[in-house]
Amino acid sequence: MTLDPIFILAIESSCDDTAAAVLQNDKVLSNVVANQRIHEEFGGVVPELASRAHQQNIVPVVDLALKKAGISKKQLHGIAFTQGPGLMGSLLVGSSFAKSFSMALGIPLLAVNHMQAHILAHFIDEEGFDKPTFPFLALTISGGHTQIVKVNHFFDMEIIGETTDDAVGEAFDKTAKILGLPYPGGPLIDQFAKEGNPKAFGFTKPKVEGLNFSFSGLKTQILYFVQKKTALNPNFIEENKADICASVQFTIIQILKEKLKLAVNQTGIKQIAIGGGVSANSGIRKTLKEAEAKFGWKTFIPKFEYTTDNAAMIGIVGYQKYLHNQFEKASVVSKARIEF
Ligand code: KG4
Ligand code: ZN
Repeated sequence: MTLDPIFILAIESSCDDTAAAVLQNDKVLSNVVANQRIHEEFGGVVPELASRAHQQNIVPVVDLALKKAGISKKQLHGIAFTQGPGLMGSLLVGSSFAKSFSMALGIPLLAVNHMQAHILAHFIDEEGFDKPTFPFLALTISGGHTQIVKVNHFFDMEIIGETTDDAVGEAFDKTAKILGLPYPGGPLIDQFAKEGNPKAFGFTKPKVEGLNFSFSGLKTQILYFVQKKTALNPNFIEENKADICASVQFTIIQILKEKLKLAVNQTGIKQIAIGGGVSANSGIRKTLKEAEAKFGWKTFIPKFEYTTDNAAMIGIVGYQKYLHNQFEKASVVSKARIEF
């Protein structure tokens, strides 16, 4: 007996990307992301501008996702949206749209936690990508979060470590800002680091108890280091950009690796799945692959388009919620902060 396919439309609008995707069961039929270039000149996301851009983008982005998928509105079984965490004004655009759509079509509304979605993106059916088995450890590293999560099942997750201040993405973005690079600077640091010597400059790693992280001290250390060197040589940044980027990236990777080693020791779980925008980093990807041979870990790195913010990851959680009858009423509210 073959079951009829389930079609889910998913919306993601938690920060500065307006995204929509259509899934057929656990397969992605379309995955559309409209980036907001407006924030570049401000060196960070401006919440008010982000919500306005979402308002402009949401209808054309959903339209395009449906067209690319070759699916009509009437074929949809459910609509999934990001409930939180994120910027309230941005979240409200996505949730209001999803609510109206679900009411107009008379189909279920599925509320999704953005951080759970970064983790469950690994369950999207993609050729050449293995899915982890439960339980596994997830390292979610983005512009807003840094967490190690013990994933027991789809909706049974425990945060066992997290940042006490800045997220790892902020460490990348703030370093980039110190170096005069545009926002978001993570991908640029990654690029420059490829040409540099990771041992050129030494930065001390923060001492944080257990599985928690701290990145604000590192950021200050980098700022003082660059200020001191620039006072002696005004061209210091230009002359050493690749080495600075490689050294900072190396330090961040060491911090992440040490905490993962500790988490594996504490839990006995050797399957590690990474997610969130920073997992696009080529140095992190390389280090994790090396750890497979070195420590006997099995690592899972999602397809690039499912690592940064996207709606396909919201859709895969929506699909699981649909299967488990986890529907929401139209009175469901967006949450800037949200627990698992
Ligand atoms: O998950 P995401 O798209 O949005 C949030 O939920 O925050 O993550 C964005 C973050 C930014 O800090 C960006 O600089 C960082 O991911 N990022 C990277 C790379 N690509 C994106 N950081 C380091 N290396 C990269 N290749
Ligand atoms: Zn994210």
